[in-house]
Amino acid sequence: MNELSQQIAQLRRDYVSRLFDESQVAGDPFEQFKLWIEEAIQAEQPDVEAMTLSTSADGRLSGRIVLLKGFDARGFVFFTNYESRKSRELDAHPQAALTFYWHTLNRQVRIEGAVEKASRQESEDYFRTRPRGSQIGAWASPQSDVIVSREMLELRVAEIEARFGDSEIPCPPFWGGWRLSPIQVEFWQGRESRLHDRIVYQNENGAWRIVRLAP
Ligand SMILES: Cc1cc2nc3c(=O)[nH]c(=O)nc-3n(C[C@H](O)[C@H](O)[C@H](O)COP(=O)(O)O)c2cc1C
Repeated sequence: MNELSQQIAQLRRDYVSRLFDESQVAGDPFEQFKLWIEEAIQAEQPDVEAMTLSTSADGRLSGRIVLLKGFDARGFVFFTNYESRKSRELDAHPQAALTFYWHTLNRQVRIEGAVEKASRQESEDYFRTRPRGSQIGAWASPQSDVIVSREMLELRVAEIEARFGDSEIPCPPFWGGWRLSPIQVEFWQGRESRLHDRIVYQNENGAWRIVRLAP
């Protein structure tokens, strides 16, 4: 190992956190997620809504960060380009995982399940709330495609700006939401001496079973 690798391997920190056990968790993972994300917001966790989205295609895996834009008992929603690599992978294999890390509270949440596209109405409603620059970006960027240069992207932005002028920018047909409906959700609370708490909700025929896993 080189010096930097050794330095990284030596990094240590003890997670000192409050108790987290089966007796105090909510009855379903959505309610528990709501409690934790509210606490993360209160703790001023930066980028609280940033999550790693893992997808797969033909046995090859890929991950990237996307932003959580909403959740309820139906699932967890993010928005993206429907022709991007992630969307192509989700079309081919509609299963995914989402991972949050809230370091200010020593917490991780892992969500696994099936995905489906959000309704057109939902995507359009959300698109309308985005800043104009992001709306133009969504039209201009052929997300995940190889492009010859940054200038090509800027040219496309100028074209889109000219095309829509001052009028409202509609949601591109190739852009919208995905909703992950969880089959399993794990809440991980870092604790002293690596004796972390791991509480997992498993969906069994519509009911949530709560179990504890070894850290
Ligand atoms: C903090 C952060 C937030 C991001 N949020 C989104 C998002 O909500 N939607 C999105 O499509 N890409 C988002 N991205 C970019 C993705 O990580 C990724 O680069 C892009 O979606 C292309 O991924 P793909 O080629 O695997 O489809 C975000 C990146 C970062 C670092």
